[in-house]
This record gives sequence, structure tokens and C-alpha cells, in this order.
Amino acid sequence: MHRAKTGFLNSDSIRIHPAEDFAGMRAAGQLTAKCLDMIAQYVKLGVTTGELDARIQAFIEDAGAVSATIGYRGYEHASCISINHVVCHGIPGSKVLKDGDILNIDVTCILDGWFGDSSRMYVAGKLSRRDERLIEVTHETLMLGIAAVKPGNTFGDIGAAIQAYAEGNRMSVVRDFCGHGLGQVFHAAPNVLHYGRAGSGAVLEEGMFFTIEPMINLGKSFTKVLADGWTAVTKDKKNTAQFEHSIGVTAEGCEIFTLSPTGKFYPTWSA
Ligand code: MF3
Ligand code: CO
Ligand code: CO
Repeated sequence: MHRAKTGFLNSDSIRIHPAEDFAGMRAAGQLTAKCLDMIAQYVKLGVTTGELDARIQAFIEDAGAVSATIGYRGYEHASCISINHVVCHGIPGSKVLKDGDILNIDVTCILDGWFGDSSRMYVAGKLSRRDERLIEVTHETLMLGIAAVKPGNTFGDIGAAIQAYAEGNRMSVVRDFCGHGLGQVFHAAPNVLHYGRAGSGAVLEEGMFFTIEPMINLGKSFTKVLADGWTAVTKDKKNTAQFEHSIGVTAEGCEIFTLSPTGKFYPTWSA
């Protein structure tokens, strides 16, 4: 279905959406959040990432939505599942979850033409203290980035907040992947960097929709993509974590479209 794009592009080529567009993003974001809530119960020792992906695909289709990743640049799955030292774009398949694995599951649903993009960390079996810290720090960087979002601040303020907290905890920020504008498209301007200088970059305006999705490493920031053309890993093979929300800038700050309706965004591994 083709639909005229709403709003207009500002001088930085970033789309400014009218107030009525928030409802579509909220619905798409909430569906993605429910999908990520749903999958938590199936993340267990012995399960394959392919089984998790199949459940995600079925959930999206049962909801009358469409997976944004199936058919995207030749990608064939409804999720990216990135385990341990895989930074992002891990391909679901025959890999079996083993004790102590930490994994990011990233899902993007299209509902009524609007895109909801979010990812979270999950744990199989016993979590090490080191990985628990990694996950805590990564989650906090996302929340600090979101706290910097309000009209008049800049994209550099978001990156600076994330970088300061990660590096203050002696972890590093991945530079090779970034957040992105989205809305009635999957990826649009701007690139949302997870590092940078406060006050630099485009100015935030009410009506901008974008993701913040910091990838934080226990070791160095360097990554490489494997021969499959997708799987990005840390060069030093140390573990990495990521959280992602889709947000919209409001007059006061921002609305998080992909908040978990049951408060499960942050992993509840003690349960
Ligand atoms: N959801 C990812 C993002 O946060 C993009 C995945 S594209 C795929 O932007 F093709 F790898 F699925
Ligand atoms: Co994204
Ligand atoms: Co994503």
C-alpha cells in the first residue's frame, strides 16, 4: 500500500511529523514491545535462535502486522538475535542457547504503515557478574541518551551522554553502527551517533521520530562483519550488549513508543 508521507523535511533533511502521527508510531511501537515481552518466556537453555525467530514471525503475522526485516536488503528473518560477542545483526538459525549466554533480540514491526523498532537483552542460564554489569551499563546509556532528548538540545547531546557513561564505566561505544530516523520508513536521516560532543549536530525539534540503540562493549570498540555479510562481532571477541527504543520528540521531552506494557524491557533474570 502506498501512502503519502506526512510532515515535512527540515533544513537538516530530518522529517518533522505533525502531532497526529504519534498515534501510528505508538501502536507500532507497542506491538513491537509486546512481541519482545512475549519472547522472554522462550529464552531458555537448549532453545535455538531459529525457534525464537519463528515465534516472533508468527506473533507479528497473527497481529496483522508485517516484519520490516524480512526482505530488507535480502535479510530473511523476523528478528536479529545477537549472542555474546555478536554486536548486532546476528542471523537466527540452528544455534542452541547455552548456560551464561547473553543475547540481544531486535524486532521491527510495520503496523498500518508505521515502523516500531526495538531491541533488548535476554539471558540464558546463569548470568556472570561481568555480563550483568555490561547489561546494566548499556541499559543506563540508553536511558541517559533518552533523557537528553528535548527540543533545543542536539543529537550530539545524546551521543555525549551515552559515551560519557559507558567510558566512565571503562566500557567502549561501538562507532560502526548507529540509530536512525524512522516513521513510515525503516531507516531515514539522521544517523543517531552514540558518541560525540555536547552541542554538536542537528538541533532536536518536536515531531522528529528516531531510534537510540547504543551498542556497548566490555573491550575495545572495534567490530567486523563476518562472511555471511550480516553478523557483526567485536574484533577482540569480548562481550557486547545493546538496547533500542523508538522515540518521538515532544514539546517537553520525548515519548518512548516501544516501552514494555508489562515493565519487562530491562531483563528480569532473577525471576
Ligand atoms: N532493527 C535493526 C535496526 O535497529 C535493523 C536490522 S536490519 C536486518 O536498525 F536486516 F538486519 F534485519
Ligand atoms: Co534501529
Ligand atoms: Co532494531
